[in-house]
Amino acid sequence: MTQEHDPGPSPAALEAARTALAGARRIVVLTGAGISAESGIATFRDPGGLWDGFKAEDLASPAAFARDPAFVWGWYDARRVRVAAAKPNPAHRALAALERARPGAFTLVTQNVDGLHQRAGSVEPIELHGSLWLLRCTGCGSERRDLTAPLTPLPPACPRCRAIERPGVVWFGEFLPEEAFLRAEAAVEAADLVLVVGTSNLVHPAAGLVVRAIERDIPTIEVNPEPTRYAEGMTWALAGKAGVVLPSRVTDG
Ligand code: OAD
Repeated sequence: MTQEHDPGPSPAALEAARTALAGARRIVVLTGAGISAESGIATFRDPGGLWDGFKAEDLASPAAFARDPAFVWGWYDARRVRVAAAKPNPAHRALAALERARPGAFTLVTQNVDGLHQRAGSVEPIELHGSLWLLRCTGCGSERRDLTAPLTPLPPACPRCRAIERPGVVWFGEFLPEEAFLRAEAAVEAADLVLVVGTSNLVHPAAGLVVRAIERDIPTIEVNPEPTRYAEGMTWALAGKAGVVLPSRVTDG
């Protein structure tokens, strides 16, 4: 891939996507780690990404946590610290602005756990993979939000029953939060346009939402510097960075 010489998406494709978005009545946006890349947060599968040099199952699985909760927490706490120091970028802000401009017509679904959409002003995006800022008790199951970074002591203890808490994220081998996934599915079924930003589309069931949008034959837009496995099936695959493509050319209008 010759990124340096990539002229980016054609003006005609950008204009067509922008017009479709402006005319859509029920928009679903699905985001992945790539939308936070320009905030300095590593993605998972790009070179230098979070899974680079790790076997994901050694960090993000119930078995890894049972083996060494402090080690797993150390990795999550380092991510909390990095995200706390980062800022939402123009792509997050463009989606928050789109949501404000289209009340009742917009659903944001994210695979990200970083909370940057909310910090940019998005109101309660559907978080398919949980949140770095959610702590869940392994004893009584209660959940709490905690924005402290770094957290001490690690692993943290439940204020109610003193059992160890775990990160409130979805791990390999676990189910997605059912209510969140059902809402996302329903939103895709009702959508008349789906915009997919910064995800490799490799992880199911989230990627299944994209497949479903393509199957429904509604207008679909991908924004990603690298065309994904589903780019061919998209109405418009806009090859470019989310922080450049979204604010300047797609979501305004
Ligand atoms: P990946 O790391 O798999 O993919 C990131 C995508 O972002 C790639 O397709 C990149 O080309 C793209 N990208 C990079 N920079 C970008 C930019 N500036 N603008 C737009 N796109 C850019 O991340 P996800 O698809 O989010 O799950 O990964 C899905 C899930 O896999 C994650 O939620 C996580 C991981 O395992 C759990 O932890 C449960």
